[in-house]
Amino acid sequence: MGHNTIEVQPLTSCIGAEIAGVDLSKTLSDEQFQDVHDALVDNHVVFFRNQEITPEGQLEFARRFGTPEVHPIVEGSNAHPELIEVLKPAGEGASFGTGWHTDNTFFEKPTIITMLYGIDIPPVGGDTLWASMEAAYDALSDGMKELLDGLVAVHSASVAFDPRHTRDKYEGKHSLKYKYSEAVEVEVEHPLIRTHEISGRKSIFVNPMFTLRIKGMTDAESAPLLKYLYEFSTKPEFFCRFRWQEKSVAMWDNRCTQHYAMNDYVQYRRFMRRVTIGGDTRPV
Ligand code: SIN
Repeated sequence: MGHNTIEVQPLTSCIGAEIAGVDLSKTLSDEQFQDVHDALVDNHVVFFRNQEITPEGQLEFARRFGTPEVHPIVEGSNAHPELIEVLKPAGEGASFGTGWHTDNTFFEKPTIITMLYGIDIPPVGGDTLWASMEAAYDALSDGMKELLDGLVAVHSASVAFDPRHTRDKYEGKHSLKYKYSEAVEVEVEHPLIRTHEISGRKSIFVNPMFTLRIKGMTDAESAPLLKYLYEFSTKPEFFCRFRWQEKSVAMWDNRCTQHYAMNDYVQYRRFMRRVTIGGDTRPV
């Protein structure tokens, strides 16, 4: 797709692009917004540098893509419950988002887009990686595509947010605050191969944080196939890595990506502001 009002510089041949020529502190024209939206769908994750964004401005921009979500388990900020302050002070070990995942696939209508704003960035470390589940799907053999097409996967937050395994999260020992809710236990089903509602392209839609099993199989039967897909789909050929700076923004499309927050900066503080945007429809 052409982008007339912005500059789009791809980072790799399959995922990630830096966008220049946009000031997110101002309301974008409809044309410029459409160009940003198209660039996001084309590149799966887009980055902006040197943006001054207030909490209200971040929510206003997010609303142009859909409805900002209030997370049922991770507490949002007091003033804006849709905004999660992803804070890791110097010395804290636990890191939010470390481990390959797609945001909130345990929702019936999973998050479509996430917007993350960098406020305090460590001098070294704290990068984020994104992998293209579309490039990974395209690279599968025809036989594997046939095997996977039509399968359904079961997703839940019950492992990642299980209070029995992650009690310290709920006991307030991390800077991020967690609240137990029934959402932790719910199991939902999504197609294992998802078709993007805008691009019409297929991608692998399972992730090791929230996918429990393949429907109709036991956990043990599902595990080897899922493990293969997790390893295959996060090969370096399918990912890009972003070096954050203060005032950088990343926006990613959860319909066709996984991401991984590096936990390699324990001696430094990192502070980000995150909003997720809900999907209107169930994945197909
Ligand atoms: C996330 O998984 O949403 C957080 C990513 C990050 O902090 O880099």
